[in-house]
Amino acid sequence: MAYPYDREAISAALRARGLDAPLRYFAQIGSTNDEAKRLLAEGAPAWTVVVADEQTAGRGRMGRRWRAPPGAAVLMSVVLRPQIAPGRLSRLTMLGAVAALRALRRWFEPEAVSLKWPNDVRLRRRKVAGVLPEAIFTGDVCAGAVLGIGLNVNGDFSADAELAHSAISMATARGAPFDRAEVLAELLAQLRAAYPTLDGDGGRDPLYEAWRGALAMLGRRVTVAAPEGALAGVAEDVDDEGALWLRKDDGARVRLLAGDVSLAVEDEA
Ligand code: BTN
Repeated sequence: MAYPYDREAISAALRARGLDAPLRYFAQIGSTNDEAKRLLAEGAPAWTVVVADEQTAGRGRMGRRWRAPPGAAVLMSVVLRPQIAPGRLSRLTMLGAVAALRALRRWFEPEAVSLKWPNDVRLRRRKVAGVLPEAIFTGDVCAGAVLGIGLNVNGDFSADAELAHSAISMATARGAPFDRAEVLAELLAQLRAAYPTLDGDGGRDPLYEAWRGALAMLGRRVTVAAPEGALAGVAEDVDDEGALWLRKDDGARVRLLAGDVSLAVEDEA
């Protein structure tokens, strides 16, 4: 069964969840993050949601392309206006990843869904979603941010030479398609519910705890392809600003803000 995924279907799904977000829907767009940043600069209110059925220039982290089969993914960017310091931008990554994790756990058993530092959401150990926050700062003051999330809902990656072994969709995992409007509404509801925890209060930090608790690979031997070069060691911990602490083989402990982590023994992933 093909579920409708247009402005009407999405608005209805949002209304059914009591979400009154201003919605900008595009059948096709370059990147929802770019459109959300444009709207942010125009003064769009917080929680304006940009949704596309297809992106022609979807962006991933570290300057990469984000590819998703047309008509199969939830591709969305949300305008936010957080009071966040420049060094804490990764808190938005945590927010998006934890919201996606919780949304997925509505349909899948909790152990099937995990996170991979810094921003991958995994289903059955393959990437099902990615998060890309971008913020505009004037000095140390955040003028606004966009939080982009791409979630593989109904795509089939089995014939994709590049992604067949690393990506999965919710439909592949379940063996049946999903209603993307409903998935999007769940994701947005989880984002809104988690948003009050964005800052942490210096004491309890439920967002950090949820993110850290779902991270695969902590305590394991990993290799990290970081902007500063390839590193190997034990992924000892993450901190509340989203950094990974790696204990290198020479005993030194380094704090990493970006990189691609793999288990040193790949088939244990
Ligand atoms: C990553 O894992 O590298 C992050 C991927 C983020 C992709 C989403 S799709 C919606 C939004 N628009 C973009 O251009 N990128 C993000």
